[in-house]
Amino acid sequence: MQTADPARANGSGGNARGDSEALDREALLAALNELLEAERAGARLSLNTVTDAGDKRLKELIATIHLDEVKWCGVLIAAIRALSATPSSRTGAFYEKAMAIPDLRDRMAFLNRGQAWVVRRLQSLLPRIHHPDIEAGLTEMLVAHEANIGRVDALLRAGR
Ligand SMILES: [Fe+2]
Repeated sequence: MQTADPARANGSGGNARGDSEALDREALLAALNELLEAERAGARLSLNTVTDAGDKRLKELIATIHLDEVKWCGVLIAAIRALSATPSSRTGAFYEKAMAIPDLRDRMAFLNRGQAWVVRRLQSLLPRIHHPDIEAGLTEMLVAHEANIGRVDALLRAGR
C-alpha cells in the first residue's frame, strides 16, 4: 500500500487548510488508482453479498451501494484517462478480506470501515486536487460515501 503520495506521509500535521499545494500528476494518478482498486473491491463485494442478504431493506441497501461503487469506478477511470493514463485493472485486497467474513452483518461493518477509509482519503486529497472536473467527481463521491455509511450504520444498529 505504499505510494509516493506526500499527502499521506504528511498526515494531518502538515500545512494549514487552504494552503494546499496541488498534487503532482504522478501522486494524483497513484491516489486515483488506489481509490479505483478500493471501489472495485467494494463493487465486487457488494455484488457478491447482495444475494446473501435475507432482510429486504439490507438487500436493497447493498444493491444501492453496488451501483454507487460501480459509478465511482467509472468516475475514477474517467479521471485517470483525463490525465492521459491507463487505469489500474486490479481489485483491492479489501475484497478478499471482506469475503472471508462469513457473518453478513460483520461483513457490512467491515465494508463500512473501508468506506470510512475512502472518506478520510478523499478529505485529505481534495484540497490538493486543483483540477475542477476531478474535484467535482470526487466531492460527489465523498458525499455519497458519507450517506451510505450512515445508512449501513443505521440498519446494523436496528438489526441488533
Ligand atoms: Fe466505496
